[in-house]
Order: sequence, then structure tokens, then C-alpha cells
Amino acid sequence: MASKAELDGIYEQAKGAVESASDLRALDQVRVEFLGKKGRITSVLKTLGQLPADERKLVGQAANEVRRHLEGAISVKQAALSRADVEERLATEAVDITLPGRRVAHGSRHLISQVIKEITGIFIGLGYKVAEGPEVEIDYFNFKALNQPPDHPARSLQDTFYIKKESVHPADDDILLRTHTSPVQIRVMKEQEPPVYIIAPGKAFRRDVPDPSHLPMFHQVEGLAVDEGITFGDLKGTLEAFTKQMFGKKRKIRLRPHFFPFTEPSAEVDVSCAVCDGRGCRLCGSGWLEILGAGMVDPNVLTEVGYDPEKVSGFAFGMGVERIALLMHGVPDLRMFIENDMRFVKQF
Ligand code: DAH
Repeated sequence: MASKAELDGIYEQAKGAVESASDLRALDQVRVEFLGKKGRITSVLKTLGQLPADERKLVGQAANEVRRHLEGAISVKQAALSRADVEERLATEAVDITLPGRRVAHGSRHLISQVIKEITGIFIGLGYKVAEGPEVEIDYFNFKALNQPPDHPARSLQDTFYIKKESVHPADDDILLRTHTSPVQIRVMKEQEPPVYIIAPGKAFRRDVPDPSHLPMFHQVEGLAVDEGITFGDLKGTLEAFTKQMFGKKRKIRLRPHFFPFTEPSAEVDVSCAVCDGRGCRLCGSGWLEILGAGMVDPNVLTEVGYDPEKVSGFAFGMGVERIALLMHGVPDLRMFIENDMRFVKQF
């Protein structure tokens, strides 16, 4: 039978349990044990009906008082535990907002990409448009249409990567990694009528073992201008304008007679050395550095693409990007461009 003495005993026990609860979960268990629906104080209240009326009132009042006190003790303890919890987290998980943030590492353009951008930028300024073609090319565009018949030495297995025809599609023609960017000329001329003013940057491939002056994959920028009345003088003037912007106002150019199957006449173009100003030094030897090949588009090529060589004429040129980057920055070995050594790459 419920009595005041029993309630006092329950209260003492409950107070002890509240005090020794070491965290919020333990405290909640204490609350459920004593004040919950099936808790011990609740059970006492449920048996009040069995008591005589005067005692019922006394015990009832005492039970409510015990409950109030206990609720008070629990909420005081709860506040203390929460504070301790926050303090502990502040001490262990603290964030020092005065520390500088973590920097995001920014990438940047590779030197070769920078040089390509610079070259194409200059020609865009002269009114040229950028054109592109596939790196896996067919023989027709890479050689035949460029006036290089099947027995031409440039097609040799020594310097061309051929791809097994069956592995791509059952084409009649040979498939290869383009050996230069010149096939883009043919693709563009077959697509559109003159006038044509295009610049075509991209990768080219030759079967070379990497050494200081050879890479099996390298970059070229091809240029082509076809219009009515284009002369060799236009070619020279264009290249002069380009070299002065690219290498500086004081640079001169020199054209040496040369041979390319797709141009007639053809020339190799040198720029005067910036180190010795053309007098001759360790870098250039003679005072001149070769930067590109060029010439007047061969009438055979114009005819091949359906242009009338009696009506239009044009010039073309092709330059090696690695070679130009090397000359501009005095890079001693082409392989440095592909080794991804950050100490080298980060300098530009
Ligand atoms: N395609 C030549 C090469 O890879 C470079 C070249 C020379 C391109 C003369 C031209 C040109 O357009 O007219 O060696």
C-alpha cells in the first residue's frame, strides 16, 4: 500500500540516480524510470484509490510534490549536462576562424598551349579563321591530295604511323596518324569556295624515337590563304608581320629556296637570332633560326580540290610549335615538354 514513507524512499533513490547520471541519455533513462507512464511515482499515484480518503489526500499531495521536485532536479541536471557537452565539443572540435583558408590549386596552360594561342591570336588579328581536322587521317588528305604520290619518301614506314585498316573501317585508303597539319588545307578547300584564310593548329605524329630534337608527337600550326591575285609578296609580308609580333619588332626574316611537294615555289623561313641580333652565336650558329616552311600553293593542289588555278592563287605555311617555344625560351631538349616535371612546367 502506498505511503508517504515509501514516496520519500523513492524520492531519495531518484535524487541519487539524477545526480549520478553522467550524460543526457542516462538522465533520460532516470526520468522514464521514475516519471514515465509506467514509472514508479506514476504507479504510486495509480494506487491512491485504494487508500482511505484522508490518507489518499496526504499521499496524493506528497506524490505530486515529489514529482515536481524530481522534475526540477532533472531539468537542472539536464542544463548542466548540456553545457558540459557543448564545452567538451568546443574544446575538442574547435575551429580557429582566424587561420587562413586552404588555397585551391589553380592549373595553368602548358607552354605549348600558350604558344599555340599566341600564334593563332596573331593570325586571327590578321583576319584568319581557326580550322581543325582529325588526327587520324586517311592517306588521301595527308599525302595524295597534297601532291605526294604513293612512292613519295615521306610515306615511308620509317616516319609514318599506319593504322591497320580493318581495325577502323573497311576503307580503300590507308589510315594513318597525320604526319603534318597540311591535310586540314585540303579538307577546308574541299568544303568551301575561295577566298580562304585559315590557321590550323594541332598535333602531328612521326615515327621518331624521342631525343633532344625529336618527338613522335608534336604540334604544328598550318596557315593557308587562297584568293584572287595572291602573290609571293603577300606571303612574305604576312610572315614578316607575324614574326615581328611574335618575336619582336627588331627581328628580320630570310627566305631560303626549298622543296615541298604541295607548294611551288617553296621556301624555308628563318628569323634573325634574338640573342646575337643576327651576328651569329652558340644558339643559332649562323645568326638565323629556321622557324617554318612555306610556299605558293601548287596548281596541282588547287585543281585537286576543284579550284581554278587560272583564277585564284594562294600561299601556305607550316610551323613547328615546339621549335618556336624552344627558340623563345632557350629550352635545351624537346623531351622537357612532355616529361611533366613541375619544376620545368611551372616556369611558364
Ligand atoms: N607540312 C610541312 C611539314 O610538316 C610544313 C609545311 C611546309 C607546310 C610548307 C606548308 C607549306 O603549308 O607550305 O614539314
